[in-house]
Amino acid sequence: MDKDYVIDVRDITKSFKGKTVVNRVSLRVQRGEIFGFLGPNGSGKTTTIRMICGLLTADSGEGTCLGLDIRKDSEQIKNKVGYMTQKFSLYGDLTVRENLEFVARLYSMKSQKEKIDRAIDRLKIGRQRAEQLARNLSGGWKQRLALACAVLHEPELLLLDEPTAGVDPKARREFWEQIFELSHEGVTTLVSTHYMDEAERCHHLAYLAYGNLLTAGTHSEVIDSAKLQTWEISGGTIQSLNYLAAILKNLPEIEQVSAFGAKLHVSSKIGVNLESLIQNQISQVRKDFLLRQIAPSLEDVFIHYMQSQKDNFA
Ligand SMILES: Nc1ncnc2c1ncn2[C@@H]1O[C@H](COP(=O)(O)OP(=O)(O)OP(=O)(O)O)[C@@H](O)[C@H]1O
Ligand SMILES: [Mg+2]
Repeated sequence: MDKDYVIDVRDITKSFKGKTVVNRVSLRVQRGEIFGFLGPNGSGKTTTIRMICGLLTADSGEGTCLGLDIRKDSEQIKNKVGYMTQKFSLYGDLTVRENLEFVARLYSMKSQKEKIDRAIDRLKIGRQRAEQLARNLSGGWKQRLALACAVLHEPELLLLDEPTAGVDPKARREFWEQIFELSHEGVTTLVSTHYMDEAERCHHLAYLAYGNLLTAGTHSEVIDSAKLQTWEISGGTIQSLNYLAAILKNLPEIEQVSAFGAKLHVSSKIGVNLESLIQNQISQVRKDFLLRQIAPSLEDVFIHYMQSQKDNFA
């Protein structure tokens, strides 16, 4: 049986002033999943999201969102998705409840009071705090209220554009618990983020750089796709580790050297004899370093992909 794709777009492309910012991107998102959308600043994530939800028309390419044509049915799509924009704005001089009432009226929703009370309970903000002005909420609570506004009309698909930017880890975790709850209820979420821990929580991921989709799949498929190997170096003094890092960075076979406290992560493509390359340099610096192979992280993989594109586009 064919999978049930809530988003299914092929080769969508967008240019602004002659510059292609999204280049033939194809994406498939299954019903109920949490799909992570990653990529550096300016890589085209927001533009892609806006084409999917009908706010922007693709220059070329085609596809469906919730079974509706992204080019022809944009009005219907807009009403059926919950979109939390990157720079979402609540009305600071309205209370929490009034912000929700405003959204309910916007969608001409039925049983507004009931649904707003339910949203407030779900937010776990408390009925009393619901009478508080939105501008007095902390950053984390503002984000949760924005999510409550995005889901009030009970959309099947949520598009969240960097919903947790600048929010502390506890508030981010609580926000993600809400996304998981929604996923259990069958809601599909496409979420853009720069946080690796959030990327790891997603069922599937896609990575965009310079408008090109470079990899997509599960966490382990994405890691395997880069064909990277990574070694960790520990031990030695801070100075000797810094010295070794500077030497390794100059070797053309080595792609990445990054420090994690008193450890270095060193990566290259599979096929390079990285172990002996590192051992040779270690023997010239000092011998008390420890070397062990580790799995490349998502961050290693994304930086690898970004650099591979930089050479083509920068
Ligand atoms: N309306 C517009 N007119 C002209 N250029 C635009 C417009 N919208 C986006 N761009 C450009 O398109 C490129 C992609 O932008 P986009 O906002 O989609 O990236 P992004 O991946 O969401 O970045 P970030 O992580 O910073 O949010 C950028 O170079 C941006 O300046
Ligand atoms: Mg963006």
